[in-house]
Parts: sequence; C-alpha cells; structure tokens
Amino acid sequence: MSGIPSAARRTVLKGVALAGAAGLGAAACSTESKLGHAQTPTPTAPLDLGDPAAVPVGGSKLYREQRVVVSCPKKGEYKAFSAQCTHAGCELDRVEGNEGNCPCHGSRFDTTTGQALKGPATAPLPAVPVKVKDGKLIAGPDA
Ligand code: FES
Repeated sequence: MSGIPSAARRTVLKGVALAGAAGLGAAACSTESKLGHAQTPTPTAPLDLGDPAAVPVGGSKLYREQRVVVSCPKKGEYKAFSAQCTHAGCELDRVEGNEGNCPCHGSRFDTTTGQALKGPATAPLPAVPVKVKDGKLIAGPDA
C-alpha cells in the first residue's frame, strides 16, 4: 500500500496521536490563563465607590470595574470583599440577593461573609476594608 511497514506506520500514528493530546493540553492551559488570575485579589489603593445608598440595606452590590462586592447588613454598616473568585481567579459576574456568582465554574459566595457556598471554590473571598468618608463609600487600604 504505502510502502511503510505496518509496525513503523503504527509508531508514526501513535506519535501523531500523542502530539495531538499534548496540543490539547496546551490549549487548555492557555484558556485557563485567560481567566484573569494574574491580578491581585484586593485593591492596592483606596477606591471611591460613590454614593453608599447604591448598596441596598440588607443587600449587596457588585462593583465589577473596581472588582469588589459590598454588602450592607444594616443602615450605615458595610462589608466589602474581593470580587475575584478564589478558585481560579475569575471575576464574579453578578449578585443575586446576597450571593455572588462566578461565571467560570459556577462557584457561589455569600456576599455578607465572603464564604464559599458552592464549589469548586472553597476559600472565602478576601475581606476588603470599607468605610464612608465625606459621603462616599471608600474601599481598599486606609479605608
Ligand atoms: S474561577 Fe470561579 S469557579 Fe472557577
């Protein structure tokens, strides 16, 4: 047929199959690297989040651009957490009630405590200092 002895042909085919599998592995790694886990999980400078009234009393608000989630357990009291998932570093995409959702693998977090409610993430969201200063909600260091 092709002139290549069948044993040699099988070896070549095996090599092609292994190279293909290795290629898939590399593709999976490069997909993971696009998930955004290169940044630090908590702010390195104070963040102005604007009017504190944007966070509903008894609820939470996700500040996607600033990568923090803030809850307000009672009027005038705030808690903030990193919005970076502790599984592989994706950003939370939405908050429903007081649960933050990670779109990458489905982890859910309690936005009033930071605790992981549903895996694969098991570690809590890191807490971020937060306070009201001059009528604005400020999160991050020195808050
Ligand atoms: S990165 Fe959030 S669940 Fe995997």
